[in-house]
Amino acid sequence: MFEKVEPAAPDAILGLNEAFQADSNPNKINLSVGQFKDAEGKTPILGCVKQAEEELLKSESSKGYLGIVGDTNYGKMVPGLLFGEGHQLLAENRVATVQSPGGTGALRIVADFIATNFPSSTVWLSNPTWPNHPNIFKAAGVPTKSYAYYDESDFSLNYDAMMSDLAKVPAGDFVMLHGCCHNPTGVDIADDQWNAVGEVLKIGGVTPIVDFAYQGFGSGIEEDAIGVRTLAKHVDEMIVCSSFSKNFGLYCERIGAVTTVAADADASAAVISRLKKCIRANYSNPPAHGAKIVAKVLGDEALTSQWHVELAEMRNRILDLRKQIAATMKSLGSPVDFRFITEQRGMFSFTGLTREQVQKLRDEHSLYIVGNGRINVAGLRDSQVEIACKAIIDVL
Ligand code: LMR
Repeated sequence: MFEKVEPAAPDAILGLNEAFQADSNPNKINLSVGQFKDAEGKTPILGCVKQAEEELLKSESSKGYLGIVGDTNYGKMVPGLLFGEGHQLLAENRVATVQSPGGTGALRIVADFIATNFPSSTVWLSNPTWPNHPNIFKAAGVPTKSYAYYDESDFSLNYDAMMSDLAKVPAGDFVMLHGCCHNPTGVDIADDQWNAVGEVLKIGGVTPIVDFAYQGFGSGIEEDAIGVRTLAKHVDEMIVCSSFSKNFGLYCERIGAVTTVAADADASAAVISRLKKCIRANYSNPPAHGAKIVAKVLGDEALTSQWHVELAEMRNRILDLRKQIAATMKSLGSPVDFRFITEQRGMFSFTGLTREQVQKLRDEHSLYIVGNGRINVAGLRDSQVEIACKAIIDVL
């Protein structure tokens, strides 16, 4: 049987990591997968995380299973981060959270939920979007379509085209929005545009799913939640898939969440009961460690303050790298004005490089970026900025 299996193409993002590991060039640079690196190229464990782990090691007394929905303390803390402590939705019991194995796991739970409860719905994805979005919905048997989002000509949001496409989405479908730090473009919906987005979805009877994997990486924890919170003012129902991979640096712990907003408490309970069915049939119940770390930090004032400081350091490093790249490209005489990179937010930027140019970067400079031209700005060491800029100018 297995002789007939056709080998699959490597993953568009994680496959590049494998190719990078196999590259023997000592000067190779990996700007593919979205993982933060410090000035020396290390992905650090945050101090608040280390301290929480030390305390957990002392106090933990069992490795028994968590419930299907995960750690209950964690489940209570996540909505406050998304919607703001004391939000009316929380008081009305319309919000519920289930723990998930990372942001990808959250998306797959939602995809299974849609497949089993809304089998005739389509999920609309931005053009472009994270390459794994279509994979996840396809694996669950949910059809996807795309709406206009990015304007290649000036590296910006094509707001009018987006609004016009969103207005045409049929009632009963879902629209995937990136809460902040759009992946792959780094181009976000502006704060004052979210009202119109919420209104068009409300009028159209369309449910938003917000992929919210980078809270705190754009402008700040509260600032980055403006999109989610504005949508919640307009629509009665929504889904948020969030992750602590980036903002807590907990990549390998696979810790994320699905948070649903329902029209009332009964509907909320019914939705969670259905999410539980999806989880049980998939991985049964989640791993505990990441959730316990997050709950420990968010449940402790001093650790939370430390987290805010450490998160700001990561965010500021990325903002600084964006400025360095734009300035270096200019001083090296780049044929393309890279000032746009300082306008974008989060880990990623769309360089506008073609697939051929991306391949040339890899073949001739051992510089690895995603085939669609996305670079992980947060993956550059200080010492690599000039080398990377020179390579990009060479292929341009
Ligand atoms: C990325 O887009 O690089 C990250 O979200 C990691 C991943 O799983 O692709």
